[in-house]
Amino acid sequence: MSRTVYVNGEYLPEEDAKISIFDRGFLFADGVYEVTSVLGGKLLDFDGHAVRLQRSLNELEIKNPISKEDLLEVHRVLVAKNDISDGLVYLQITRGAADRDFAYPKDAEPTIVLFTQAKPGLANSPLADTGIKVISIEDQRWGRRDIKTVQLLFPSMGKMMAKAAGADDAWMVEDGFITEGTSNNAYIVKNGKIITRHLGNEILHGITRAAVLRFAASAQMEVEERAFTLDEVKDADEAFITSASMFVMPVVEMDGDPIGTGKPGSVAVRLREIYLEESLKAAV
Ligand code: PDD
Repeated sequence: MSRTVYVNGEYLPEEDAKISIFDRGFLFADGVYEVTSVLGGKLLDFDGHAVRLQRSLNELEIKNPISKEDLLEVHRVLVAKNDISDGLVYLQITRGAADRDFAYPKDAEPTIVLFTQAKPGLANSPLADTGIKVISIEDQRWGRRDIKTVQLLFPSMGKMMAKAAGADDAWMVEDGFITEGTSNNAYIVKNGKIITRHLGNEILHGITRAAVLRFAASAQMEVEERAFTLDEVKDADEAFITSASMFVMPVVEMDGDPIGTGKPGSVAVRLREIYLEESLKAAV
């Protein structure tokens, strides 16, 4: 079945959607993106994603071609047209098409593309019951990971290294400290305390992270935002990741060694429940 996608103001069948070969997203990875999850036909954390999108665009001096209200409308129309109950909306804005030059073109019109991905049962993934396995790899990405750009080749390589090792994902390590997962934020729990890296240029400021830390605080859970080491992961009581597509997902193994009991931990399980319940209540 062909999806309806959105390209520069038009709703089109996916096979008719076209972008210039001169688009700087294609030539330079000069573009940013957002992924918003859909549960029961509603968007989770839409506002957070819209705010981060604007921040990414500002950091790269790319004009925002769409207002927040219109962006919400496009998300809703695509969810409806494609009959998405559970799934994702992917949004990408690039600097647009211009003759190839490293300097930003003055007059390019940004390109905006949105499409949906149906993921039936997104919130009931069997992985949440078993937890996922991760490996550690060196973080070889560029230094502005707080900007959600489409240059995702190293995270893809990391995912392939994980698969080759029989694991599900990789946690990246820089100067001895975990930065984050290939496409998610990383957490450990030790003696009841949730530890996750502080915000900075080294990690993406996850929208799910912000929500989960808010919910953890209201549930009187102790949170410490600081960098942690691989040794701390191996010594942790439990571990988990967060992202728009995985919500809160327990991590039960690092580099072949069990974390804690080797089963999903109670903090991760509880936070997943709270996150799903609260975000659904606030979904639009
Ligand atoms: N990835 N860190 C990285 C490097 C990410 O790519 C993501 C999201 C996150 C979590 O951010 P959020 O909670 O806002 O989804 C952290 C998305 C889901 C993706 O690339 O598909």
